[in-house]
Amino acid sequence: MSNNYRFINMQFTGKLSTLFLKYNRFMKLVLAPMEGVVDFKMRQLLTDLGGFDLCVTEFVRVVQARLPEKVFYRYCPELNNNGYTRAGTPVRIQLLGQEANPLAENAVRAIDLGSHGVDLNFGCPAKTVNRSRGGAVLLKDPEHMYTIIKAVRDAVDSKHEVSAKIRLGFDDDSKSQEIIDAVVSAGANSVAIHARTKRDGYNPPAYWEKIPPIIKGKNIAVVANGEIWQVEDAMLCQKRSGCSDLMLGRGALSHPDLAKKIKAHVNNEHYEGLEWEHVLYHLIHSAIHHDPAKDEKYFASRTKQWLGYLKRQYPQAITLFDEIRRLKTKEDVSAVLKKYAKAPQLDSNHDS
Ligand SMILES: Cc1cc2nc3c(=O)[nH]c(=O)nc-3n(C[C@H](O)[C@H](O)[C@H](O)COP(=O)(O)O)c2cc1C
Repeated sequence: MSNNYRFINMQFTGKLSTLFLKYNRFMKLVLAPMEGVVDFKMRQLLTDLGGFDLCVTEFVRVVQARLPEKVFYRYCPELNNNGYTRAGTPVRIQLLGQEANPLAENAVRAIDLGSHGVDLNFGCPAKTVNRSRGGAVLLKDPEHMYTIIKAVRDAVDSKHEVSAKIRLGFDDDSKSQEIIDAVVSAGANSVAIHARTKRDGYNPPAYWEKIPPIIKGKNIAVVANGEIWQVEDAMLCQKRSGCSDLMLGRGALSHPDLAKKIKAHVNNEHYEGLEWEHVLYHLIHSAIHHDPAKDEKYFASRTKQWLGYLKRQYPQAITLFDEIRRLKTKEDVSAVLKKYAKAPQLDSNHDS
């Protein structure tokens, strides 16, 4: 049994608490896949800040054929670096599709190109994706999920991990046990559970407490996901889900050093946290929102997108967002960002 700790329905008292904290030192933090948000550059920036053990790419859509190599490199430029981010964090390609064989073929290709395992998406709520029977809609049909995961597991060499990313169900969680049973019996090595149904969307809360009953006695590593915005959420999620390993999505965008803070907390290390001035520095100097291949508006729209997440953690982002909301060009947006910047001294890596 790897990194899944079965402290189900247990109180954090006495010996158990001590034991859990000991195991906690081995906790893994995974950067969630987020289409259109967590791309190569965002992965680079967030893993530079530290704390993550694994990143999962945005989903690569698989329909029928084997995809050309360039598609994998587009979603995962880290393949040029043996599948690692600049900071050395391994990256795993996520596939989304409904047909077992093409998924298996493309999984093998992803691994051959250097992906650190392969992840299968069973959680995407997008209508276009679900209409073509991919993503969360597959949660309605655990048998089909089994067929897909089994085909991928059989095709990929056993030394590479096959993981699945699921929600608790589609309309409700009545099939959550069947879903987990399918994932486990198909031979997946790990499963990330976004503790909500498709119908719940991204609305709080995440039902972490629904994880322990369905994973009880299962031989699979489980990563709990959903609504982790602060260190306290991470600790509560561990306690309620019984999982040591966590996946961070929007929390990592609103709070770019959240992973580092969580790790510092569990390791009892001192870490001050990123001041707003440092975040602003990254907004300005990182290459994250700059892509010469994209049009003029790209920088403005990506900066607004990130500020939208940062607003939750840093009140200063609200003022900044309001000032740039109508601006469209890189020059105009940069001028406002620089007006607020105090250019602190940084010793970390950055993309200036
Ligand atoms: C904008 C956006 C894009 C997402 N894209 C993906 C994706 O490509 N693959 C996937 O499995 N999950 C995707 N998710 C779901 C996240 O990985 C994660 O499960 C979800 O946001 C819950 O975690 P959080 O509360 O920490 O954000 C996406 C979520 C958002 C908000």
